[in-house]
Amino acid sequence: MNELINLMQKHASVRNFTEEKIPEDTLKTWINAGRAASNWKNFQSYSIIVVSSQAQKDALFAHQPQKAIKNCSHYLVFVGDLKRAETAVTLNGGDFQPAGVESLLISSIDAALAAENVLLAAESGGFGGVMIGLIRDQSSEISDVLALPDYTYPLFGIALGKPARRNDVKPRLPYESVVMPETYQLQDETVIRAYDKVQEDYAGARRLDTTWSERIALQWGQPENPSSTENLNRKKLLK
Ligand SMILES: Cc1cc2nc3c(=O)[nH]c(=O)nc-3n(C[C@H](O)[C@H](O)[C@H](O)COP(=O)(O)O)c2cc1C
Repeated sequence: MNELINLMQKHASVRNFTEEKIPEDTLKTWINAGRAASNWKNFQSYSIIVVSSQAQKDALFAHQPQKAIKNCSHYLVFVGDLKRAETAVTLNGGDFQPAGVESLLISSIDAALAAENVLLAAESGGFGGVMIGLIRDQSSEISDVLALPDYTYPLFGIALGKPARRNDVKPRLPYESVVMPETYQLQDETVIRAYDKVQEDYAGARRLDTTWSERIALQWGQPENPSSTENLNRKKLLK
């Protein structure tokens, strides 16, 4: 296995950081490595808000109180961004029509690919981080803190810093459950039950009071949080 594959397989989210700050030029190198990712038609339909000040971290934490936001060195918020597209369409005398699922897929996928690269770059330098998507539960409030204009929306952040504590690598579902030869392979609940057990064993003493599948049931066994839909309407990105 080469060094890169080894690094990728050692990934574990980091939620506790030391006081050490990431040097600005190092951060810029990671972000540029992230921005080298493939993206739809080279439109680069995302922006990255770099939050370095404690005041701005605290303002975001006030809406989504996860300690990593407050205590990280830098918090990068990945924003789906059709605002530059508006300017380009207007420049070319077009009628800007960004609202719809396809625009959201384009900008979300572009941002996610860049973000994963940034995180891997950070991990390659002995730093670490965690993506924080629950900011979407307060999409409008987070948008206001970041002064996001129409045609933009917050996707998730990455809290980055020097790890104070590292988790063990979290076991994934079995290869055969996720990677399917030629056509989709339906699976029954034995896969789910078995992985509930794997996750329970992995967590050990840090076990949560719900199983993996119970957490899925909580996510998809009730209506979704309306926050993203409301904000996407507000930002003119949904019809
Ligand atoms: C888009 C996205 C959003 C996430 N949001 C959160 C979050 O809000 N809070 C959190 O603690 N972890 C969050 N995570 C981290 C996942 O929980 C974590 O990646 C997953 O459990 C696998 O663990 P690992 O990264 O340590 O391998 C997020 C991950 C992704 C990809």
